[in-house]
Amino acid sequence: MNRADPLVLGIETSCDETGIGIVRGTTLLSNTIASSMDEHARYGGVVPEIAARAHLDELVPVITAAVAEAGIRLSDLDAIAVTCGPGLSGALMVGVGAAKALAVALDKPIYAVNHLVGHVGADLLQGDLLHGDTTNTGDAAPLEYPTIALLVSGGHTSLLLVRDLVSDVELLGETIDDAAGEAFDKVARLLSLPYPGGPQIDRVALGGNPKAIRFPRGLSQPKDMAAHRYDFSFSGLKTSVARFVEQRQDAGEPVPIGDVAASFREAVVDILLTKALAACADYGVPRLLLGGGVIANKRLREVAIDRTDAAGIVLRIPPLSLCTDNGAMIAALGAQLIMAGHEPSTVEFGADSTLPVGQIQV
Ligand code: KG4
Ligand code: ZN
Repeated sequence: MNRADPLVLGIETSCDETGIGIVRGTTLLSNTIASSMDEHARYGGVVPEIAARAHLDELVPVITAAVAEAGIRLSDLDAIAVTCGPGLSGALMVGVGAAKALAVALDKPIYAVNHLVGHVGADLLQGDLLHGDTTNTGDAAPLEYPTIALLVSGGHTSLLLVRDLVSDVELLGETIDDAAGEAFDKVARLLSLPYPGGPQIDRVALGGNPKAIRFPRGLSQPKDMAAHRYDFSFSGLKTSVARFVEQRQDAGEPVPIGDVAASFREAVVDILLTKALAACADYGVPRLLLGGGVIANKRLREVAIDRTDAAGIVLRIPPLSLCTDNGAMIAALGAQLIMAGHEPSTVEFGADSTLPVGQIQV
């Protein structure tokens, strides 16, 4: 195995994206994705069985496309990396099964890795494929440690202390109910906007006043801070939006959708960044990395830039194409493990829907 600059294929199937990425060391050669999002739209959220079935249909065509794009042969690979958790069980199992089959058929080592840590590893990638991405703020310089990482998507909202990507990642806090993206999706639904809700809320918030309605910031009261300093909660916020909308409707008054969307978004952005910056301050870490699909939110990125600037914190945002779930981040983490001298996983590992973030490789 080439440990200096390994050629790794990464398989990601933890949610609704079938992602195959190919990297050589930290160079991105292919990031190919098929999403079953459209099939979930009518249900207003990801349906696990539909996601698993779509992975089965999509895996082989996506692998074929990724290999063609990278201009390699499967036999050239040094290793296969695969997400083994956390995520949806059935969806994970499809990726894990495919990765094992490929590894055995090609006689290649396999690295079973943690999806959340993969989101952090995404920021190490560089290459021509990313040049068109206007959200790319970083130069894919090596990560400096320690760093705080805030991961926000439809499936997770987690705050991590990363002391070393391949050996020391600690969970500081996470959502105790809905993920932030899920809150966007549910509030969009309350406002009769289609799924996925994030981009819709962004669109209608343009015409709204973020200060019009003071929605609650979950787990930010002094009484919450002892047990939940770095945890998040979005269910109270969602209920508060629902109540506001109902009251207007009951009174026969129009719902000011723009104001509701802008005020809701402001509350989410505020609580995410307040907690992330508190972690930076408490641990004396002047570095913050963002990841996950909700990073597509313009207001979140804007406020993150302003607040980190003011606090003297270096902000890293991976290119947006690598923030949403993808196989390249899994390949990137696999390559980091190989370069750091870690041994492959043994083939008896399985999918683990609740894999703790501290377990970087299984
Ligand atoms: O990382 P991601 O693609 O994968 C899953 O978690 O499945 O994240 C998708 C989530 C959805 O909940 C979507 O509403 C949210 O990210 N999202 C956004 C925006 N674009 C996507 N949330 C807020 N603002 C956006 N512009
Ligand atoms: Zn994710």
